[in-house]
Amino acid sequence: MTIQPFPLPSDNPELRSFLKSRRSNLAKNMTGPGPDKEQIEDILEIAARVPDHRKLAPWRFLIFDGVARNRIGTHLGRVFEAKNPEMPPDRVTFESERFLRAPLVIGVISSPVECPRGTPEWEQRLSSAVVCYNLCLAAQSYGFGAQWLTEWYAYDSDIAIELGLGENEKISGFIYIGTPKDASLPRQRPDMKSLISYY
Ligand SMILES: Cc1cc2nc3c(=O)[nH]c(=O)nc-3n(C[C@H](O)[C@H](O)[C@H](O)COP(=O)(O)O)c2cc1C
Repeated sequence: MTIQPFPLPSDNPELRSFLKSRRSNLAKNMTGPGPDKEQIEDILEIAARVPDHRKLAPWRFLIFDGVARNRIGTHLGRVFEAKNPEMPPDRVTFESERFLRAPLVIGVISSPVECPRGTPEWEQRLSSAVVCYNLCLAAQSYGFGAQWLTEWYAYDSDIAIELGLGENEKISGFIYIGTPKDASLPRQRPDMKSLISYY
């Protein structure tokens, strides 16, 4: 088999226009449908096609769909209630329904490995963040809405145990994917001049 080189980059105004105007879609404003099985596989393949120093793939995916969203919700409610006993029952219910906001939630887990050749853990964590972003873009390329959230449960040690996280694993994000009910409103963007300097 001959290996074909990639074509050189070419001007792609459509892609540029998408990237220039991209916005997240709020999880709380999502409904069904979400991507089907084939689309999910494709979205994950795109998500994993990220810069990754030394091909370590230092991340993995945890998928929540269907009743799995209720199952994790039961834990969210229980953990939240135990740690916030002063909260009213309706707040506990709200917490237990977080994963029900979208038909599909994909957890991206940063899973750095010992690299004998020395890829720093920091770079492996960065690669995992890019996976989250690529996941959002891939979902949006299919016409779905996507939002990268962490909220409290990404940092909770009891939820980490429930999700089977290893000692050095961290949640990079939960990507909520579904059909947006409304268009996103514009969001203020940074003043580019204040961010750029020349060395
Ligand atoms: C690591 C990370 C965690 C985030 N967690 C939350 C969150 O918990 N809650 C939230 O409202 N937005 C969170 N965001 C922001 C949203 O993903 C999103 O950027 C925001 O809604 C603005 O939309 P935009 O992407 O169109 O700028 C997070 C972003 C990042 C990069």
